[in-house]
Amino acid sequence: MTAATLAPPPLLDRLADPALHAEGDPHALWRWLRAFSPVHRHEAGELPAFWSLTRYDDIRAVYRDPGTFSSARGVLLRPARLGDDPGGGLTLALSDPPRHKELRALMADWFSTRAVRGLEDTIRRAARTAVRRGLDQGVFDFVDLAGRFSHSVISGILGIPERDHEDLYRWTEEAFAAHTSLAAHPQLMDYFMELLYARMAEPADDLVSALVNGTVHGDLLTEHEILLNCENLIGATENGRLALIGGLLAFLEHPDQWRRLDEDRALLPGAVEEIVRWTSSATHSMRTATRPCTVRGQRVEAGDRVVLWLPSANRDEDVFDDPYRFDIARRPNRHIALASGEHFCIGSTLARAEMRALFTELLDSTTAIERAGSVTRVLSNAVNGPATLPVRLR
Ligand code: HEM
Repeated sequence: MTAATLAPPPLLDRLADPALHAEGDPHALWRWLRAFSPVHRHEAGELPAFWSLTRYDDIRAVYRDPGTFSSARGVLLRPARLGDDPGGGLTLALSDPPRHKELRALMADWFSTRAVRGLEDTIRRAARTAVRRGLDQGVFDFVDLAGRFSHSVISGILGIPERDHEDLYRWTEEAFAAHTSLAAHPQLMDYFMELLYARMAEPADDLVSALVNGTVHGDLLTEHEILLNCENLIGATENGRLALIGGLLAFLEHPDQWRRLDEDRALLPGAVEEIVRWTSSATHSMRTATRPCTVRGQRVEAGDRVVLWLPSANRDEDVFDDPYRFDIARRPNRHIALASGEHFCIGSTLARAEMRALFTELLDSTTAIERAGSVTRVLSNAVNGPATLPVRLR
């Protein structure tokens, strides 16, 4: 080990800078951190001070100990001046046990294996519509195709009628483009308030009705809580969308793997797992220590923020053979791109079904998929993947 190898890489201070994730190579920093400083302290600047965890075992252990590592003050890094996440304690992602368990039970039925199996035809139809539209367009941005597709699926689960999906998609995109919360978009919020009142008056077989009528600790959720949870669900599908786009990009960069999948469709479930590992589209989760503790020999104080870098865990050389190789037949593949423990992604079964449907449709309906322009990457430290992926379908 040379002194040069041990010296921290020059961009280490910028690990949480969205520009580094859009234009730089965070994997080079994560690789160095795993090797030389797996529990690494970043001092306060615009962001509060935080610890970076980069090894698989440490990240998994933190996820599985919500008593010591709380989600209630926020699960994403935010500028220090903004304080804790105002949704703390109110949404599923930002709750700790025991409240988290009750809130999750309200929603779990809608994302179970059984529920997703019941949705498979709808998802297949949505995938077919999306790919046909792409074929008609010739050259188009795959980001838009994946967005419309995943948005229409979650909209259906929430209980939004199909005729309104297009409006909802447009408003959500506008809110994301303006980097504001969905709650800041007046049309979107008006729409949800109306839907809420309609379901209060007459419950239907949908997730909004379940939220409107369900109780936590014996109390109905407030309107604010219901809206925040709907926003959370729509926002969380961004991870699924980025995994779809990143998955297609992975195949475009590894055409041998696309041919292999085409020749042996039994590889599809494993291919989906490899896409989820490879893309690791949720870049980090944050937790706040509730008491002093030790992580890999490093003392962490109560109130300290701990950031779990998922793409790093999923490239950990101690866990994955040849981790920088995209291999749709990788086995075992125990990635933690969907987290672990209490907060394990509630949409995981749905995300997998969407991937199977869309890639099957692309294999069945196209003879060639080509890049038709340059790829840019999302400017964010919270999610990662292509921001534009122009393609041509034939
Ligand atoms: C491949 C795609 C996806 C990835 C990589 C992903 C990743 C994750 C991760 C890492 C977490 C844990 C966050 C934390 O606790 O800090 C999570 C939770 C969550 N995900 Fe996903 N997700 C994906 C797709 C989806 C989809 C399609 C939905 C739509 C319903 C969704 C909804 C949620 C929700 C509501 C939570 C909070 C669960 C809880 O706190 O109990 N996710 N996801």
